[in-house]
Amino acid sequence: MTNTKIKIKNLYKIFGSNPKNAMEYVRNGLSKQDLLEKHSHVLGLRDINIDISEKCISVIMGLSGSGKSTLIRHINRLIEPTEGEVVIDGDDVLAMSAEELRDFRRNKASMVFQKFALFPHRSVIQNAAYGLTIQKIPEKEAEERSQHWIDRVGLSGFENHYPAQLSGGMQQRVGLARALTTDAEILLMDEAFSALDPLIRTDMQEILLDLQSELNKTIVFITHDLDEALRIGDDITILRDGEIIQQGSPQDIVMRPSNDYIADFIKDVNRSRVLLVRSIMVPADSENGPKIGMNIPLEEALSQLSSKQAMEGSVVDSEGKVVGKLDLSTAIEAIRRPERSSNDLQYR
Ligand SMILES: Nc1ncnc2c1ncn2[C@@H]1O[C@H](COP(=O)(O)OP(=O)(O)OP(=O)(O)O)[C@@H](O)[C@H]1O
Ligand SMILES: [Mg+2]
Repeated sequence: MTNTKIKIKNLYKIFGSNPKNAMEYVRNGLSKQDLLEKHSHVLGLRDINIDISEKCISVIMGLSGSGKSTLIRHINRLIEPTEGEVVIDGDDVLAMSAEELRDFRRNKASMVFQKFALFPHRSVIQNAAYGLTIQKIPEKEAEERSQHWIDRVGLSGFENHYPAQLSGGMQQRVGLARALTTDAEILLMDEAFSALDPLIRTDMQEILLDLQSELNKTIVFITHDLDEALRIGDDITILRDGEIIQQGSPQDIVMRPSNDYIADFIKDVNRSRVLLVRSIMVPADSENGPKIGMNIPLEEALSQLSSKQAMEGSVVDSEGKVVGKLDLSTAIEAIRRPERSSNDLQYR
């Protein structure tokens, strides 16, 4: 089990002239639309509860306007809640003094933005070193530390270039290097890859996953892209109209969508790539057939079964111990696109 790093409890955010007053309607269940039409207030978030595990990538997903940015901005208190709590490592973020908050934003939680937000008149290395410069770290040390991260994100040789001379993907690498130089334990990434072309975006996801396997940061990653969420999330929270409609691992969400809205959302995902052997294996008493790793996607497992012309395989853990079995027909059934029953058509 992992420890909770960031705890968000009963969080509400209402935008408008008198949010406290509007809370009463919201608590009584008034919808976002009615709150807007009848009381001219915007429901940003309603009763959000999330435990974000340390050293994991937690994805917040939802369509435009669902409240993703509002939520992530509460974590470093760029937004004050109307009600609720944000607790990080046991510290109440809402109780922090201005100085504590500044310190927290500089040292503990770095943000990576969708539009990169680089300084145009500073070089790559100066941009990467920004967090250290404001911490008054001596220039030489700041440069050395920044160089390390510039190299690590694959920008060696571009230290003295300016943002305008770089492609979008390269600019966001600078954004990532800047967030990493301060050694913050928490990375807040609001649609950090959304502005990039699909291929570049996949590259960036790979860089992030690669860095994460080494750095084990607590990453809150916002996206409206399902494939991205499934690819990089250890767990996923889905928001709709300011409310959480499902929380779970990518496996949970694809295997057990909690309502028709999500079922419809995931209907076109490549299930053989998302689902892992461990999610559909069944108990086995003995070894039978070729050995298949429990954490590989079904796509790969099926190809292993077929290359051995086997109808079933023994599922093994990382030490090679048999933990279950996978049979061909169950695997094929699991990756079949689910059919919607007629009453599914009634979803909102
Ligand atoms: N400062 C504000 N004043 C009034 N309403 C706001 C404000 N900020 C956000 N909202 C509203 O709160 C809701 C959630 O907005 P938010 O920006 O968090 O959505 P999002 O999921 O990040 O969307 P996107 O994918 O477009 O970035 C929306 O209805 C939005 O109009
Ligand atoms: Mg947003």
